Amino acid sequence: RSDFVTHRIIIDCDPGQDDAVALFLAFASPELDVLGITTVGGNVPLELTHRNARMMCDIAGSDVPVHAGCDKPMRQPLRTAEYIHGETGINGIDVFDPVTPLQAQHGVDFIIETLLAADDDSIILVPTGPLTNIGTAIDSEPAILAKIERIVLMGGAMREGGNRTPSAEFNILVDPEAADIVFRCGRPITQMGLDVTHQVLSTKERVDRIRALGNPVADATAGMIGFFERYDMSKYAAPGAPLHDPCTVAWLIRPELFTGKDCNIAIETQSELTLGHTAVDFWHVTDRPRNVHWVYQVDSDGFYDLLTERLATYGDAA
Ligand code: RIB
Ligand code: CA
Repeated sequence: RSDFVTHRIIIDCDPGQDDAVALFLAFASPELDVLGITTVGGNVPLELTHRNARMMCDIAGSDVPVHAGCDKPMRQPLRTAEYIHGETGINGIDVFDPVTPLQAQHGVDFIIETLLAADDDSIILVPTGPLTNIGTAIDSEPAILAKIERIVLMGGAMREGGNRTPSAEFNILVDPEAADIVFRCGRPITQMGLDVTHQVLSTKERVDRIRALGNPVADATAGMIGFFERYDMSKYAAPGAPLHDPCTVAWLIRPELFTGKDCNIAIETQSELTLGHTAVDFWHVTDRPRNVHWVYQVDSDGFYDLLTERLATYGDAA
């Protein structure tokens, strides 16, 4: 395994069916050494997001340690999204008490300790929920910044507009103060906003291919997508739902599937009307630093080929 590893990562997430699929993809990618999973309040409250992350470790047979991080945003009240993800956060599969334990160490402390012990530019953070844990870690221990090779996050939007308010995407809206800290931190950022995630739609043909794999992880993936997709399919009258969070992991293992450009992106933290908006300076009309690699295009067939190919490996002889 060590021959293949190209990235050492920490995944910070709020499972969430699409977060769960991102975990499955990461666990099945020899290019990635997942050092740990930290969870955050987001789609559903923290006690459910860490339970759900531990369930995914059980289903996938992963021994990656799971830590619970912050249960609410730095300043804002917690907004959740049970109307999309269901009461459990992972509706579409039966919930069970996971064997995978919850680590005693707080997720933010795990991020800080792991980074401080690492070499410069050596660990990639992969947040797929509200940025509370990452913003809090940077705010309380700026010395970790030098250790962060890159932050590859799901959140924000440009042409797609908001999905929780007319101008804000959920992950950024939930904790705009934390997002502002992250976007100003000076470390390289790759951002998967709705403009790209809305291209990877879970059409029937794609989900049928996954279901046909016939292993427990593929079954759980198809089951979760089957519930998760119904909200966005009716809202957007689309043939499938956007599989947001796995785009981060897919970019790490097959970046050639994606197209993006470096530009300035700033976070609205003051206005009530546009709180959490990501102002994408796509045409460089300001002289603000080009702090983000903004991804706006993906080969969605190639994305689903990759996902299906990696999910198939869970059926190989254990
Ligand atoms: O807006 C989409 C994002 O919000 C995804 O990360 C989904 O899991 C939810 O957290
Ligand atoms: Ca998420």
